[in-house]
Amino acid sequence: MKKISLLSAMFLFATCIIFSCKKDTVAPPANPCTGVVISINASQTAPTTGQSNGSITVTATPNGTYTYSINSGAYQSSNIFSNLATGTYTIKAKNADGCESAVSTVTLSSSNPCNGINITLTPVTTFADVCPTTNNGSITLTASGSNGFTYSKDGGTTFQASNVFSNLAAGNYPVVVKDVNGCTKSQSVTVSANPGGVKFNLVRNLMIAKCGSCHFNGGNNGSVNFDDKCNIVNQWDRINFRCVVQGTMPPTPLSTSEKQTITDWVNAGHRYID
Ligand code: HEC
Repeated sequence: MKKISLLSAMFLFATCIIFSCKKDTVAPPANPCTGVVISINASQTAPTTGQSNGSITVTATPNGTYTYSINSGAYQSSNIFSNLATGTYTIKAKNADGCESAVSTVTLSSSNPCNGINITLTPVTTFADVCPTTNNGSITLTASGSNGFTYSKDGGTTFQASNVFSNLAAGNYPVVVKDVNGCTKSQSVTVSANPGGVKFNLVRNLMIAKCGSCHFNGGNNGSVNFDDKCNIVNQWDRINFRCVVQGTMPPTPLSTSEKQTITDWVNAGHRYID
């Protein structure tokens, strides 16, 4: 009896060696994340000041298929987070087995080099002449608040190093000054037509009062119209002759002091600018 049981025990032992009759329990599955280290590298595009146009691009290693999360939000398949404003963001990556990387913190700060730059622009202009019409106006720009300025008078289409624009016709100029970083200050600058000299304007005002609708507002008596200021300049000798020397114009003669007003202008050079 004892021999038999020893024999069967040996048989069992041998069978066990051959067929591996271990106790049939289910071992807990090994954690797939054990030993897995995912590191992430985040590159950023800074947003423009005041805008949400920044982005963060995440690269996870080792190579694999990942999804990505920003600020603990839902995981997405794209590794690019866009439309971001300035601020601090937390980024995570997760692989196909659900293993997460450590959290990476990314701070987006504004890219605008013009932050805090306050350019002031002071224009000085000279007139464009009127009689004859001459494109000899000028704009001189003085800029401060930064450095490396260039200057434009056409709204920023073209820039020049000189702060002086000359040979300008009367009109409005969309002036822009730009510093070394491209920070700009814009301003509309008016080059005025020369308003005329004091003596000229005294004569013109006298004529508007005394020559009236016969020669102004389209009035064309004797084929003479003075609406255009330059016609007064061009006909200075006829005005002098008829109003001062001869005294037959206007039909009701001018007073002595009114004649003197014309004489003063004639003696000064009878120009628009006198
Ligand atoms: C009531 C209308 C009237 C008024 C006011 C008048 N004129 Fe005349 N003007 C005429 C008429 C009409 C003629 C054409 C006949 C002539 O030459 O006398 C004329 C002609 C002229 C001529 C062109 C003839 C030339 O000799 O070269 C001049 C210059 C002139 N006027 C200047 C003046 C001035 C300057 C004034 C104002 C200070 C003036 N007139 C006021 C009616 C007027």
